[in-house]
Amino acid sequence: MTGHPLRVFVFDAYGTLFDVHAAVFRLGDRLGADLSAFSALWRNKQLEYSWVRTLSGRYRDFWNLTEEALDYCFSRFPEADRAARPALLDAYRRLDAYPEAKGELEAIRSQGHATAILSNGTETMLHQAVEAAGLETCLDAILSVDGLQRFKTVPETYALVLDRFAVAPENVSFQSSNGWDIAGATAFGFRTVWINRAGTPLEYPDLAPRHILPSLTGLSTLKET
Ligand code: LAC
Repeated sequence: MTGHPLRVFVFDAYGTLFDVHAAVFRLGDRLGADLSAFSALWRNKQLEYSWVRTLSGRYRDFWNLTEEALDYCFSRFPEADRAARPALLDAYRRLDAYPEAKGELEAIRSQGHATAILSNGTETMLHQAVEAAGLETCLDAILSVDGLQRFKTVPETYALVLDRFAVAPENVSFQSSNGWDIAGATAFGFRTVWINRAGTPLEYPDLAPRHILPSLTGLSTLKET
């Protein structure tokens, strides 16, 4: 993109643009375990590992953490068919995008704003997911924390956006479905929109988002307060 974007709209990847639960549900009955419980534990452990490894200074990339979290799930759900492991990981590389994601990204870009992903995922993971979902043409940048060897919510991870676009934090609108990510991005100084897909209660009240939406629908037409 040439010239200065009016504003940069930055999106968390997993859970915000891509449905992290799509991998497990794609397997269906083949898994042999409670799909919702298995998928929730996989996600929760993946995130917990990211925070512990950042706080401990023992980085491993997000793909490794995704595999380790999946292996933990197989230990916790002995009834699950371990033969499904490769298919689950393959599905995770090609998650479904939420149906409204592409249209909202296109609408935001047509207004003269820039769009980007900022994610804990590795560059390989993110490029595979973006390509599989057909979102390549709607994004100006795909930013991974991998080069920093630390995960969100470390402030330096959010600063990657400022380095890439040469904008001030108040000109960045940051979208995430994760309350903890919204808290981190708000603390950093971004305008934030919590995509509260699960309809869960507000956390971190002193680091509250500027807006809350149930999905990305309507993001491009939000009136700034
Ligand atoms: C992301 C995950 C953590 O950074 O949602 O994309």
